[in-house]
Amino acid sequence: MKVLIINGPNLNLLGTRQPEIYGHKSLRDIALDLADEFGPDLVAEWWQSNSEGAIIDKLHEAGFDHSYAGIVLNAGAYTHTSLAIADAIAAIELPVVEVHLSNVAAREPIRRTSLIAPVCAGSIAGFGAKVYSLAVRALAL
Ligand code: DQA
Repeated sequence: MKVLIINGPNLNLLGTRQPEIYGHKSLRDIALDLADEFGPDLVAEWWQSNSEGAIIDKLHEAGFDHSYAGIVLNAGAYTHTSLAIADAIAAIELPVVEVHLSNVAAREPIRRTSLIAPVCAGSIAGFGAKVYSLAVRALAL
């Protein structure tokens, strides 16, 4: 199974960014753990950008390519602000699973609203780095 894992703004700093909220693992550590967990059955393509437009372009580029089982998306703070990313998810064909390391429902009010949740296949939040593995499992169902 092949999946695309898109990470949005500030997630390049995982590992050192507010570790009390987001944990001590970098994106690379999480990618290595995922590869260990699933072995050769999974081809996970990891991609990160801090730019809203680049994330939209990536969704357009991959979103009609059915060689992917789906897309795992941690849109970072764009989750709470970006109607444009929500529109891109609605426009593409592949299922998108929304993930957040932190339990956004238990944080500041602005983080309790996701503009992308209504157009995603489902959402997984609050289980730290394991959310990526859970999302891959959801796409395999
Ligand atoms: C996040 C939660 C967002 O509210 C925040 O802006 C992030 C990370 C998470 O993974 O918990 O950048 O998406």
